[in-house]
Amino acid sequence: MSAPRRARLGETDLEVSTLVFGSMGRRRRDEASRARVLDAAIEAGLTSIDTAPLYDFGEVEAFLGRALAGRRNRVELLSKVGLRWDGAHGEVLFSLEQAGKQRTVRRDSRPASIRRDVEESLARLRTDHLDLCQIHHPDRRIPLEDALGELVRLRDEGKIRHLGVSNVEDRELATCLAFFRDAAPGRGIASLQLHYSLLERGAEADRIPTAHASALGVLAYTPLEGGALSDRFVRDAGWRRERSESDPLFRAPNVGPLRAAVADALIPVARDLGVPASTVALAWLLARPQRVMPIVGASSEGHVREHAAAWDTPLENTAAESLAEAFAALKIDRNPNATFTTRLRNKIRRLLERGSRLRRGSAR
Ligand SMILES: NC(=O)c1ccc[n+]([C@@H]2O[C@H](COP(=O)([O-])OP(=O)(O)OC[C@H]3O[C@@H](n4cnc5c(N)ncnc54)[C@H](OP(=O)(O)O)[C@@H]3O)[C@@H](O)[C@H]2O)c1
Repeated sequence: MSAPRRARLGETDLEVSTLVFGSMGRRRRDEASRARVLDAAIEAGLTSIDTAPLYDFGEVEAFLGRALAGRRNRVELLSKVGLRWDGAHGEVLFSLEQAGKQRTVRRDSRPASIRRDVEESLARLRTDHLDLCQIHHPDRRIPLEDALGELVRLRDEGKIRHLGVSNVEDRELATCLAFFRDAAPGRGIASLQLHYSLLERGAEADRIPTAHASALGVLAYTPLEGGALSDRFVRDAGWRRERSESDPLFRAPNVGPLRAAVADALIPVARDLGVPASTVALAWLLARPQRVMPIVGASSEGHVREHAAAWDTPLENTAAESLAEAFAALKIDRNPNATFTTRLRNKIRRLLERGSRLRRGSAR
């Protein structure tokens, strides 16, 4: 049986494509090629487009505004707020040099900044509303309730239709849900966006069940692990080397075991079904018992078609379970260059989060 191509986002009246087109873009292409990939995505049915002010520092939204002129009503625009690179407020998320300019990106969910983010996105995207506006990364220096309050005001003004969150911890999700406890169905947060794939399943322990119990739409980003869950990862050493500069999955100690899992578990299933390995990685997500909507990137029309084929790639339960087992057995180090202190700090943070989950569980 094929997977449904469209669904309502959570309890809202917003209908989205269940495969969402990720506009972040890992590979720089010229405007005409990017427009062809976007057209191929819309034609294939991936009409919901995930974007953010952060992507190429506004340039991706500006491209979408140009490319979608005259056909805004054929797509659903899902954008974000809460990261800025023009001020001193907020914890630093990362810093990089681009075209000779040093950019420091900070979490900034102050209400005035959120309003500015939305106004700027609307101008770049050449539209009068966002279908979904998500807090990209929470700003832990201000109450989450203040940020949500501003999003509600923007919704009341018609500038955004629905609001969502991304990259929140379980306790932050609980804060959002509590903020909207008395809201009518579809009027609280609509969605949760997080990293979720065959290889990254941490959210299954807490946020995904919480989201489902609260009828939120779950948007899964980086579903192909940036291309690691593909045939090419096994056969193209030159490409792995190229990617290894920016992505730790493509270098030691991860590349060996991951390559073996893709070759021994994912590719045989794909071969049986007659589709590429990346299509199976998406079909696995579409077949999850608690529905998730993958947000998938592509910079070629061929990749778009392979992604769309996931809708017509039914995965038997036994195949889905054996894939889950094969990838769960892998020990992946997402931050191989982390110092001992960073590792210790992360471990303490995970233990504290686990403690607070357990306390909340026993208080229920
Ligand atoms: N909320 C957040 O914090 C957050 C974070 C990350 C991403 N996102 C969203 O999620 C979207 C997708 O994320 P992502 O780009 O990190 O991950 P992804 O979808 O897992 O990876 C996309 C990349 O995989 C490569 N790929 C696709 N099919 C392939 C194939 N058959 N063989 C080899 N490589 C293949 C493509 O590389 P090529 O470019 O070479 O085609 C593509 O750019 C983003 O565009 C963004 O909208 C959100």
